[in-house]
Amino acid sequence: MKRLHVLLLICAFVFGMASLNATPAESAILIKIAGMKPEGEPETVAMHSFGKHLERLSNGKYKVQVFPNSMLGKEDAYIANTRKGIIQMCATGTQTSSLQPSMGMLETPMLFDSYEHAHRAMTGKTFELINKGFPEKSGLRMLNAFPLGFRNFYTKHEVKSIDDIKGLRMRVPNIPLYTNFARECGISGQPMPFAEVPAALDQGVIDGGDSPLSDIIADKMYEKCHIITQTRHILVIHALYINEKFYQGLPDQDRAWFDEAAKLCAEETWANAIAVDEHAIKEITAHGGSVNEPSPELHQYMVEAGKRSWQLFLDPESSNYVPNAQEILDSAASYRDAK
Ligand code: G3P
Repeated sequence: MKRLHVLLLICAFVFGMASLNATPAESAILIKIAGMKPEGEPETVAMHSFGKHLERLSNGKYKVQVFPNSMLGKEDAYIANTRKGIIQMCATGTQTSSLQPSMGMLETPMLFDSYEHAHRAMTGKTFELINKGFPEKSGLRMLNAFPLGFRNFYTKHEVKSIDDIKGLRMRVPNIPLYTNFARECGISGQPMPFAEVPAALDQGVIDGGDSPLSDIIADKMYEKCHIITQTRHILVIHALYINEKFYQGLPDQDRAWFDEAAKLCAEETWANAIAVDEHAIKEITAHGGSVNEPSPELHQYMVEAGKRSWQLFLDPESSNYVPNAQEILDSAASYRDAK
């Protein structure tokens, strides 16, 4: 499998270089985007949509090749290759917080009440504040931000009360904001890649995990964990990233096409978010799963745990310290009500 990834990457690089050297009249300029999610999921749908919009806006000057489902390697590998300029673009989430901690704040626990609230913040000043200094530091530019969905618990047993989540062994992504939030909730967070979850559930190493509903159905998680509790504690926000040097080297008109295509595909994803969740709920219940709401007490408990977890970004002693964290939190809160 690893060999296949390397081969695909070499092909992507060789064909890409050839097309960049060609004049537009001879052939379109190939733009390669790597992502982690399978076909049909919001991240991959957004990448394809970006390609369609860019091809249309540029009248065929650019052609976009989408490599979903970690075809060009896991996210760390393809993020590194986008930074090096081996591929031009990628889609990912808060994995970029290892390059600059503020990027982790995209998925600050208990920050957004609804998709509408998050949409206003992510197309407004909160987006700019999170991105401050990122292109210079990382060599990557975040072109947009779009939702994969609110994270909800999937568990083998019902999660009704606060006591039910204390000590629960839940898989968490190996990202500080996630491990920290689990600790504040009293959950026993077990960091591991998403791909290892089914085996860990079979072996009884974990009692469940949390994911957007779109991931829960894509991986048929309801077959192993029948109980879905809509805790909506973290909104997973992914984005299209572009190599900054490549972006700055584009003619002004072309750069405007990239910006517009990124904006259009993100807007479509925000507009579809509720329908994606509704479809997932139908799918889960059709397969015998049960979709529940947390009790008001549990919700309030998680709100308070979320607020305590923000200390990760606010504490100057923390390795995840974000100098403008308070400004980011205040900005996000200011978008709570429609203006
Ligand atoms: O932004 C990163 C986050 O989406 C990772 O979640 O569950 O896909 O590993 P997961």
